[in-house]
Amino acid sequence: MIGLIVAFTNNRVIGNNGMIPWRIKGEQQRFKELTTGNVVVMGRRSYEEIGRPLPNRDTIVVSNTKKFEADNLITVGSLKAAIDTAKERFPGKNIYISGGAGLYKEAMDLVEVMYITKIDAVIEGDTLFPEFDENEFDCELYRHVSKEETGSYSFDYLTYTRKTAKLDSLFNFFREIDKEKMIGRQTYLTGAVRKENDAEHAWHMSVMTLLLAGYANEKIDVLKTISMLLIHDLVEIYAGDTYAYDEEAKKSQNDREKAAADKLYSLLPKEHAEYLRGLWEEFELWESPEAKFAHTMDNIQPLMLNAANNGKSWVENGIALSQVLKRNERCAEGSDELWNYAYENFIKPNVEKGNLKNE
Ligand SMILES: NC(=O)c1ccc[n+]([C@@H]2O[C@H](COP(=O)([O-])OP(=O)(O)OC[C@H]3O[C@@H](n4cnc5c(N)ncnc54)[C@H](OP(=O)(O)O)[C@@H]3O)[C@@H](O)[C@H]2O)c1
Repeated sequence: MIGLIVAFTNNRVIGNNGMIPWRIKGEQQRFKELTTGNVVVMGRRSYEEIGRPLPNRDTIVVSNTKKFEADNLITVGSLKAAIDTAKERFPGKNIYISGGAGLYKEAMDLVEVMYITKIDAVIEGDTLFPEFDENEFDCELYRHVSKEETGSYSFDYLTYTRKTAKLDSLFNFFREIDKEKMIGRQTYLTGAVRKENDAEHAWHMSVMTLLLAGYANEKIDVLKTISMLLIHDLVEIYAGDTYAYDEEAKKSQNDREKAAADKLYSLLPKEHAEYLRGLWEEFELWESPEAKFAHTMDNIQPLMLNAANNGKSWVENGIALSQVLKRNERCAEGSDELWNYAYENFIKPNVEKGNLKNE
């Protein structure tokens, strides 16, 4: 992520005589929080004001007249070289353009996000933050800090996210989840031509929920339940499918899926990431009526397909009735009626035919 971080006043002042012309309690807190562990890029004069590399960050100075080199400190000749160097040497780290005026102006068209501290004051200065087209960004108030808290001026921490950047990351996510179609499951499609994949499984359960919601033990929000089902297996893009009866793989399943969720949802803008992650965590918690019903669907859809294929995958894997009952022991929590139906129509006939071992 390439961002820009700045503090300016009502008259757009960022500096005066090579210095920041204010001292406001807590004003630099967000700069510290965001840039720690990441890369800051600044012009020579801004660096000279600070006079040393910032701790716990990599600093890249842009200058054609001086060379500053130390641990965590590099000098390059242009903004482009700074960004290329940051991407090459510190892959995965966020890059924050940190002033002054020339760098801000040049970076304005490249940055995805601007973290702006807007100080509610008019202060004299010789260096201004450049004008930009507010329509290109969505602006969100992150926090207001009052006069009482600072003892001087109040300020707002604002986040300006470029509208196209949001869409870029959403479409990037849509492309990434295409990989779910490659995650194979153990269940055969009807007719046993091949096994289904995770995306097909999610689609099938969504349609089932649309028509079976009335059988839920408690009233459910259908859209929420379907949303949960559509996304609940996305983590398997990185964590892989864990076969319901593979006891060894199930031991590491939680850790693998949590790491996968961190990776997957970091691709999304914050509010979307929180929304999808919240749904996934609710499904995993298995407590809400929607989560219980989603689990019922997750149990019954493969039972139905297995039964439709004369228990083919149960037979191939030598599965016993006791394993199926254990795997589905909470199925009725979402719907007693559907569990009874599944037991009578999908499980029992396969025990009678010998497709499920009844030890
Ligand atoms: N309020 C804030 O958030 C904030 C943040 C940062 C800075 N500031 C203030 O801003 C003032 C400094 O800003 P400034 O605009 O005067 O200076 P600056 O951008 O910090 O430094 C200017 C120098 O950096 C190099 N440089 C900058 N842009 C370049 C580019 N695109 N390509 C190549 N070299 C480039 C050049 O160095 P060489 O001459 O060595 O080639 C140039 O002379 C200070 O008052 C400082 O306190 C405020």
